Amino acid sequence: AKEVEENLRSPICCIMGHVDSGKTKLLDCIRGTNVQEGEAGGITQQIGATFFPAENIRERTKELQANAKLKVPGILVIDTPGHESFTNLRSRGSNLCDLAILVVDIMRGLEPQTIESLNLLRRRNVKFIIALNKVDRLYGWEKSKNAPIRKTMMQQTGDVVKEFKMRLNRVQNQFQEQGLNSMLYYKNREMGETISILPASAISGEGIPDLLLFLVQWAQKTMVEKLTYVDKVQCTVLEVKVIEGHGITVDVVLVNGVLREGDQIVVCGSQGPIVTTIRSLLTPYPMNEMRVTGTYMPHREVKAAQGIKIAAQGLEHAIAGTALHVIGPNEDMEEAKKNAMEDIESVMNRIDKSGEGVYVQASTLGSLEALLEFLKSSDVKIPVSGIGIGPVHKKDIMKAGVMLEKKKEFATILAFDVKISAEARELADKMGVKIFCDDTIYCLFDKFKSYIEGIKE
Ligand code: GTP
Ligand code: MG
Ligand code: NA
Repeated sequence: AKEVEENLRSPICCIMGHVDSGKTKLLDCIRGTNVQEGEAGGITQQIGATFFPAENIRERTKELQANAKLKVPGILVIDTPGHESFTNLRSRGSNLCDLAILVVDIMRGLEPQTIESLNLLRRRNVKFIIALNKVDRLYGWEKSKNAPIRKTMMQQTGDVVKEFKMRLNRVQNQFQEQGLNSMLYYKNREMGETISILPASAISGEGIPDLLLFLVQWAQKTMVEKLTYVDKVQCTVLEVKVIEGHGITVDVVLVNGVLREGDQIVVCGSQGPIVTTIRSLLTPYPMNEMRVTGTYMPHREVKAAQGIKIAAQGLEHAIAGTALHVIGPNEDMEEAKKNAMEDIESVMNRIDKSGEGVYVQASTLGSLEALLEFLKSSDVKIPVSGIGIGPVHKKDIMKAGVMLEKKKEFATILAFDVKISAEARELADKMGVKIFCDDTIYCLFDKFKSYIEGIKE
């Protein structure tokens, strides 16, 4: 506790980049977990959060730190999807974070979502570093598990070093084309102007010590003001989930302030504002990913920054991506409720005013926005007449069924990453409402597209 003398909170670090550049695998390497291999299709489709305590960082960076002082309690890392459909989740991640890691696959260089992520970060003025990942794929690479990068580079043959420099150069040129100067971090003397590049491997761990130490030292040196803890609660809902033994829970990122058991909170809900009381506060164990179901630690109170699972009554209609407010003793309840509902209004506005279109159901506001965006920008124009968040129930089938008399092919539910109740399925069969479901956006879209094209022929 002696280290935390400046009262800094943990920095929130977002990890971004093109699909399959190795974001989740890098985190797996640090955590000692296997989250990536459990993902559907090997791609990340949700925002995740993992807390890395200072003592773990100290342990992992032993070889590098002479007498480095860690002043922050740890780092909270937010994993984001790289697939093109999830622009809004990347956007949400970049909105939440204090700093970021932009991951580039050394073999592939800059790719479309690298550039998209880069632009999101620049637009929000988020400082970031570049992790140049997959160095172990350089031809002839000699592995040296979890070694600092300069140490491992000295053990490589001349050919490997040559290929490394060639590829590094190419990436630097590509960043230059985007208007950014970049340089190997240990050569970078103009931090801030020039972006630091940290080579790494998520498979054999080379460069991981450098990455961790750099992040912590950089944050506590240059972001003191931003990271100085304040009491006012700042909190965003990431996900709404059913957890066995806890009922409906919401996963949140607490950026500032303290949440306590028994706090009265208000969150944005699909059927209006939800006012409820925190029944329990749970966190995953340190070094564990919140989006992976496991065992959680209960707390009386949790101080920012932290990823937290909150159990409370009435959360089933809570919407991910919106702010959670704690209602203070002197606060006006109606005002708090009104503020809570601002986030969803923008999505509601995207529904087709003609009233003709498919019914779209998704697990979170984020994934719903992504799906709506996808449908809007696709070559086949698909109007949307209704939206829902959470599992598909009978009432959703009823709503979609309205189209049977207007435009039969739109009497359809596109269910993205949500469960469909048995009664809902039964009713859909009886009424002739089609349900398409999938846990990846583009597969879901393809299923619907071939159905529509089949009808047209
Ligand atoms: P999305 O979340 O879907 O955007 O992908 P991601 O950036 O999280 O990449 P992910 O961790 O899913 O890794 C993609 C693939 O690259 C997996 O097959 C990994 O095993 C592989 N991979 C990731 N990092 C490395 C690395 O450093 N070296 C090698 N050889 N393979 C890697
Ligand atoms: Mg991933
Ligand atoms: Na992936």
